[in-house]
Amino acid sequence: MKRFKLSTEVLFSENALDALLDIKDVNAVLITDQFMVDSGMADMILKKLRYCNKVSVFSDVIPDPPMDLIEKGISFLEDKDCDVVIALGGGSSIDAAKAIVYMTKELHRAKHGEDGKRLKLIALPTTSGTGSEVTQFAVVTDSETGKKIPLIDESLMPDLAILDPELVKSAPPFITADTGMDVITHALEAYVSETASDCSDCLAEKACELAFEYLPRAYRNGFDIKARDKMHRASCLAGMSFSLVNLGLNHGIAHALGAIFHIPHGRANGLVLPHVIAFNADVKREGAKHSNDSAKKYQKMARIVGLPAATPKVGVANLIAEIVRLLKYMDRPMCITECGISLEEFEANREEIIKRALADACTVANPRKVSADDISKILDEIAK
Ligand SMILES: NC(=O)c1ccc[n+]([C@@H]2O[C@H](COP(=O)([O-])OP(=O)(O)OC[C@H]3O[C@@H](n4cnc5c(N)ncnc54)[C@H](O)[C@@H]3O)[C@@H](O)[C@H]2O)c1
Ligand SMILES: [Fe+2]
Repeated sequence: MKRFKLSTEVLFSENALDALLDIKDVNAVLITDQFMVDSGMADMILKKLRYCNKVSVFSDVIPDPPMDLIEKGISFLEDKDCDVVIALGGGSSIDAAKAIVYMTKELHRAKHGEDGKRLKLIALPTTSGTGSEVTQFAVVTDSETGKKIPLIDESLMPDLAILDPELVKSAPPFITADTGMDVITHALEAYVSETASDCSDCLAEKACELAFEYLPRAYRNGFDIKARDKMHRASCLAGMSFSLVNLGLNHGIAHALGAIFHIPHGRANGLVLPHVIAFNADVKREGAKHSNDSAKKYQKMARIVGLPAATPKVGVANLIAEIVRLLKYMDRPMCITECGISLEEFEANREEIIKRALADACTVANPRKVSADDISKILDEIAK
C-alpha cells in the first residue's frame, strides 16, 4: 500500500507574505539568524506581524543547528507563552524552529498528558533549497560528536509555508547555486528512491523541469523575480517529493562531508551528484547495459528537462553532462580540494565518511545497494 499525505498549507507567489497580516491577537516568536536581523529582513516580517499581541525574536540560529541551540530555543519559547512560531531563514532556521516546536510539544505532553500544547508553526524560507517548509525532516547536529541527526516525524511538518520570492532576492550567487543544487539532488534522489511512487514522481519531475530551466537565471540575476519564484516552487515540490519517499546515497555522503568538513549542504550534494547518478545507473560496470530501473528513470528525467535520451545509456550520459555543465557554469567545486580541503585531511577521514554514509538514514532508500567499497570508489572520484 502506498500513502500520500501533505499536511502543510502552502501559499506562494509574489506578495504571499501579506498573509502574515491576518495573524491577530496571539503571542508570536520569530526564530531566525543574525543575518536576517542585520539585513533588515526580520524587521520587514515584524512590520507584517503588527496585529499580534506580542512578537519576540530568537535570532541565535547558526548553520547546521546544534542540539544546545535547540535547548536554548525551547527555554526561550517557554518564557514567552507563545502561540505561533514563525521560522524565517534557510533550512537551518526552519529546521531549528521545527525541532524547537516539536520538542516543546513533546515536553508539554509528558508534563500535562495527551492533549499537548497547540503551537502553530509557519515557515518563511529565504533560500530555494531544502524544501524544509514542507518536509517531515529536521536535521540537527549533535553538539558533542558533530554528527548530523535527522529527526523524522509527520508532526514536524509546518502548518503553513509562505513562499514569497521577495525573501530570496538577497541570496548571493554562491548561496543560490549551492541551495539550487540541493533542489536538483532532492528531486533526483526521490525520483529513483526505493519507495518512489507516481505521487512522488510527478512532484520530482516538475521540480527538476523548473530547476534546470530557472536555476541558471536565478544565479545570473538574483533580482529576476520570475526565476526566484520558480526556484522557490521547485524547492517546495522537491521537498514534498522526498518527504514522501526519502532520499538516497547522495545525501548519505553529503551529510558526512558537511558534518566533518563543514561544506555547505547543497555544495556537498552537487559535488557528489554526477558520481552517484553514474553509480546508480551502473554506467561504470564493465559490460553494463545501462538499463536498470534507475537508468530508465534518469533517461525519462533527461527527456523531461529537454535533453536527448534515445536510450537509457544516452539519457544518463546527457543528464550527468548537463549537471556538470551547470555546476561549472555556477563555478561550483568539482573535487574535494576545490572545497578547500587538503587530500591529507580527506584521506584521514575516509573511513569515518564511509562509516557515517553507510549508517545515514537516507542511504537506505538508495535504489542500488551500497557497500563500503562502493562509497570508497565515489570518494576516489571526488578526490581528483
Ligand atoms: N529539513 C529538511 O528537510 C532538510 C533538507 C535538506 C537539508 N536540510 C538542512 O538544512 C540546512 C541547510 O539549509 P540551507 O541550505 O537553506 O542554508 P542555511 O539555512 O544553513 O543558510 C546558509 C547561509 O545562507 C544565509 N542566507 C539564507 N537566506 C539568505 C538570503 N535570502 N540572503 C542572503 N543570505 C541568506 C544564512 O544566513 C546562512 O548564513 C542544513 O543543516 C541541512 O542539513 C534540511
Ligand atoms: Fe538536501
